[in-house]
Amino acid sequence: MRERIVAGNWKMNLNKLSIKNFINDFPSLVADIKEVKNIIFPPYVYLYLFQEQDEIHYGGQNIYYEENGAFTSEISSGMLRDMGCKYVIVGHSERRHIFGEKNDLLNKKLQSALDNNLIPVFCIGETLKERKANRQFNVLETQLKEGLNGIKNIEKIIFAYEPVWAIGTGETATPEIAEGAHKFIREELNKLFSNAGENITILYGGSVKPQNTGSLIKMKNIDGFLVGGASLQPESFSEITRLSRED
Ligand code: 13P
Repeated sequence: MRERIVAGNWKMNLNKLSIKNFINDFPSLVADIKEVKNIIFPPYVYLYLFQEQDEIHYGGQNIYYEENGAFTSEISSGMLRDMGCKYVIVGHSERRHIFGEKNDLLNKKLQSALDNNLIPVFCIGETLKERKANRQFNVLETQLKEGLNGIKNIEKIIFAYEPVWAIGTGETATPEIAEGAHKFIREELNKLFSNAGENITILYGGSVKPQNTGSLIKMKNIDGFLVGGASLQPESFSEITRLSRED
């Protein structure tokens, strides 16, 4: 089922005090908004602060696909479950481009998340170079085909289209560009998984702020957002949530 979701990817930001304050302040700002689900992805070491509350959905920013073993600094799906997570981001562009994660690795991570009853937020998107070469749709197609290879229950996955050139740059994809990519992703999922795409939630990410939320959420194939910078303050994140209520 397509869901309206506004998620916050905190990346490597904030600290214990600011997160405690966020957990304190945020719920009352969105208490009246029932039709939008918020999910926060804090740095791993602060997950326990979310386990101590029950108002905010939360998840991990990454996983390794093995259950346990000699994989220094890695975290497994089972460990995230143990900390009360229901969600995990897989394939964020910073993982792909800074840490060199490839589609076949991400495929294993997706399978591990699903096997452990975690809902993956699977990120895909093209770089500026790829867009300039007009290769954005080939890139998305490959990321989907290889990332989802052999996966059965794709209706459990949330997708996020995050064009790399729009992340943290202040440069948002225009609503038309974002809509074009979302429509393509939905059609591709329809092709790969016998019309499953119609019921899949596809989020947009890349310099989302209160100022551009309204025009993006109007688009037919945009179901919500994965927000970086503007999710760090309760005020801007709640404002984006509020503006995402209606098409
Ligand atoms: P910004 O909203 O800071 O551009 O980050 C987007 C993002 O990468 C969310 O995962």
